[in-house]
Amino acid sequence: MKNEGRLDLESVGHVGEVLTEDQKNNGLLIHALQSIQVIHNYLPEEELKSLSKNLSIPLSGIYSTATFYKQFYFTPRGRNIARVCTGTACHVRGAGEILDAIKEEFNIKEGETTEDASLTLETVGCVGCCGLAPVMTMNEEIVGEVETEKLESIVERIRGNGE
Ligand code: FES
Repeated sequence: MKNEGRLDLESVGHVGEVLTEDQKNNGLLIHALQSIQVIHNYLPEEELKSLSKNLSIPLSGIYSTATFYKQFYFTPRGRNIARVCTGTACHVRGAGEILDAIKEEFNIKEGETTEDASLTLETVGCVGCCGLAPVMTMNEEIVGEVETEKLESIVERIRGNGE
Protein backbone atom coordinates (compact mmCIF):
# COMPACT_ATOMS: atom_id res chain seq x y z
CA MET A 1 0.00 0.00 0.00
CA LYS A 2 2.83 2.36 0.88
CA ASN A 3 4.08 2.69 -2.70
CA GLU A 4 0.73 2.51 -4.46
CA GLY A 5 -0.02 5.54 -6.59
CA ARG A 6 3.59 6.78 -6.61
CA LEU A 7 4.64 8.59 -9.73
CA ASP A 8 6.54 6.61 -12.32
CA LEU A 9 9.51 8.88 -13.06
CA GLU A 10 9.87 7.66 -16.65
CA SER A 11 6.22 8.43 -17.41
CA VAL A 12 6.46 12.03 -16.21
CA GLY A 13 9.93 12.77 -17.61
CA HIS A 14 11.80 15.73 -16.10
CA VAL A 15 8.88 16.62 -13.84
CA GLY A 16 9.49 13.44 -11.89
CA GLU A 17 13.16 14.28 -11.50
CA VAL A 18 12.49 17.65 -9.90
CA LEU A 19 9.76 16.45 -7.56
CA THR A 20 11.09 15.74 -4.12
CA GLU A 21 10.08 12.61 -2.26
CA ASP A 22 8.01 14.80 0.10
CA GLN A 23 6.11 16.36 -2.77
CA LYS A 24 5.34 12.95 -4.24
CA ASN A 25 4.17 11.65 -0.88
CA ASN A 26 2.01 14.73 -0.40
CA GLY A 27 0.32 14.09 -3.77
CA LEU A 28 -0.36 10.52 -2.76
CA LEU A 29 -1.69 11.65 0.62
CA ILE A 30 -4.12 14.13 -0.94
CA HIS A 31 -5.37 11.48 -3.34
CA ALA A 32 -5.90 9.08 -0.43
CA LEU A 33 -7.73 11.76 1.58
CA GLN A 34 -10.00 12.47 -1.38
CA SER A 35 -10.78 8.76 -1.72
CA ILE A 36 -11.63 8.45 1.97
CA GLN A 37 -13.88 11.47 1.76
CA VAL A 38 -15.71 10.06 -1.27
CA ILE A 39 -16.48 6.93 0.75
CA HIS A 40 -17.50 8.58 4.04
CA ASN A 41 -18.42 12.10 2.96
CA TYR A 42 -15.87 13.30 5.54
CA LEU A 43 -12.56 12.16 7.05
CA PRO A 44 -13.21 9.87 10.02
CA GLU A 45 -10.37 9.87 12.58
CA GLU A 46 -10.01 6.08 12.45
CA GLU A 47 -9.40 6.23 8.71
CA LEU A 48 -6.77 8.93 9.19
CA LYS A 49 -5.01 6.82 11.81
CA SER A 50 -5.00 3.89 9.44
CA LEU A 51 -3.67 6.10 6.65
CA SER A 52 -0.94 7.37 8.96
CA LYS A 53 0.16 3.81 9.68
CA ASN A 54 0.01 2.66 6.08
CA LEU A 55 1.82 5.66 4.61
CA SER A 56 4.24 6.00 7.56
CA ILE A 57 3.26 9.64 7.91
CA PRO A 58 2.65 11.03 11.42
CA LEU A 59 -1.02 11.66 12.16
CA SER A 60 -0.15 15.30 12.88
CA GLY A 61 1.29 15.58 9.37
CA ILE A 62 -1.88 14.17 7.86
CA TYR A 63 -4.02 16.66 9.79
CA SER A 64 -1.65 19.45 8.83
CA THR A 65 -2.11 18.67 5.14
CA ALA A 66 -5.85 17.99 5.35
CA THR A 67 -6.64 21.19 7.23
CA PHE A 68 -4.77 23.22 4.63
CA TYR A 69 -7.34 22.33 1.98
CA LYS A 70 -10.91 23.60 2.29
CA GLN A 71 -12.22 20.55 0.45
CA PHE A 72 -11.73 18.25 3.45
CA TYR A 73 -14.21 17.87 6.31
CA PHE A 74 -13.66 16.37 9.73
CA THR A 75 -17.24 15.94 10.83
CA PRO A 76 -20.04 14.01 9.11
CA ARG A 77 -21.74 15.85 6.28
CA GLY A 78 -25.40 15.83 5.34
CA ARG A 79 -26.82 13.95 2.39
CA ASN A 80 -27.85 17.36 1.06
CA ILE A 81 -25.58 20.38 1.11
CA ALA A 82 -27.39 23.73 0.94
CA ARG A 83 -25.25 26.83 0.46
CA VAL A 84 -26.78 30.27 0.63
CA CYS A 85 -24.88 32.89 -1.34
CA THR A 86 -23.99 35.83 0.86
CA GLY A 87 -22.28 37.89 -1.83
CA THR A 88 -23.27 41.53 -2.11
CA ALA A 89 -26.07 41.17 -4.68
CA CYS A 90 -27.65 38.26 -2.80
CA HIS A 91 -27.19 39.99 0.54
CA VAL A 92 -29.03 43.04 -0.75
CA ARG A 93 -31.82 40.87 -2.15
CA GLY A 94 -32.55 38.87 0.99
CA ALA A 95 -29.90 36.17 1.49
CA GLY A 96 -30.05 36.77 5.24
CA GLU A 97 -33.78 35.96 5.36
CA ILE A 98 -33.24 32.78 3.34
CA LEU A 99 -30.46 31.70 5.66
CA ASP A 100 -32.57 32.45 8.73
CA ALA A 101 -35.55 30.55 7.32
CA ILE A 102 -33.48 27.42 6.68
CA LYS A 103 -31.82 27.66 10.09
CA GLU A 104 -35.20 27.91 11.76
CA GLU A 105 -36.79 25.15 9.66
CA PHE A 106 -34.04 22.64 10.42
CA ASN A 107 -32.96 23.99 13.80
CA ILE A 108 -29.31 24.26 12.82
CA LYS A 109 -26.74 27.01 12.55
CA GLU A 110 -24.57 27.86 9.60
CA GLY A 111 -21.88 25.20 9.19
CA GLU A 112 -23.91 22.56 11.02
CA THR A 113 -25.52 19.30 9.95
CA THR A 114 -28.93 18.12 11.10
CA GLU A 115 -29.03 15.18 13.52
CA ASP A 116 -30.58 12.94 10.86
CA ALA A 117 -27.81 13.99 8.43
CA SER A 118 -30.38 15.13 5.89
CA LEU A 119 -28.80 18.59 5.54
CA THR A 120 -25.60 20.54 5.98
CA LEU A 121 -26.12 24.30 5.79
CA GLU A 122 -23.32 26.56 4.62
CA THR A 123 -22.82 29.98 3.12
CA VAL A 124 -20.78 30.74 0.04
CA GLY A 125 -19.38 33.87 -1.60
CA CYS A 126 -20.69 35.02 -4.98
CA VAL A 127 -21.40 32.04 -7.20
CA GLY A 128 -21.46 34.18 -10.33
CA CYS A 129 -25.21 34.38 -10.93
CA CYS A 130 -25.84 37.80 -9.40
CA GLY A 131 -28.60 38.54 -11.93
CA LEU A 132 -30.60 35.72 -10.31
CA ALA A 133 -30.10 36.97 -6.76
CA PRO A 134 -30.90 35.80 -4.20
CA VAL A 135 -29.16 32.56 -5.07
CA MET A 136 -28.46 29.34 -3.22
CA THR A 137 -27.08 25.98 -4.25
CA MET A 138 -28.63 22.62 -3.43
CA ASN A 139 -25.95 20.01 -3.87
CA GLU A 140 -24.68 20.69 -7.41
CA GLU A 141 -27.73 22.68 -8.54
CA ILE A 142 -27.89 26.48 -8.57
CA VAL A 143 -31.27 27.84 -7.52
CA GLY A 144 -31.89 31.47 -8.42
CA GLU A 145 -34.52 34.00 -7.42
CA VAL A 146 -35.21 32.12 -4.23
CA GLU A 147 -38.47 33.22 -2.68
CA THR A 148 -40.96 31.61 -0.30
CA GLU A 149 -42.41 29.10 -2.75
CA LYS A 150 -39.04 27.91 -4.00
CA LEU A 151 -37.76 27.68 -0.47
CA GLU A 152 -40.72 25.51 0.51
CA SER A 153 -40.02 23.19 -2.39
CA ILE A 154 -36.35 22.98 -1.38
CA VAL A 155 -37.33 22.15 2.19
CA GLU A 156 -39.63 19.41 0.91
CA ARG A 157 -36.83 17.98 -1.20
CA ILE A 158 -34.49 17.91 1.78
CA ARG A 159 -37.11 16.27 3.97
CA GLY A 160 -37.86 13.75 1.22
CA ASN A 161 -34.20 12.94 0.70
CA GLY A 162 -33.65 12.85 4.42
CA GLU A 163 -36.07 10.03 5.15
S1 FES B 1 -23.70 37.72 -5.03
FE1 FES B 1 -24.86 35.88 -5.04
S2 FES B 1 -24.52 35.14 -7.04
FE2 FES B 1 -23.31 36.93 -6.99
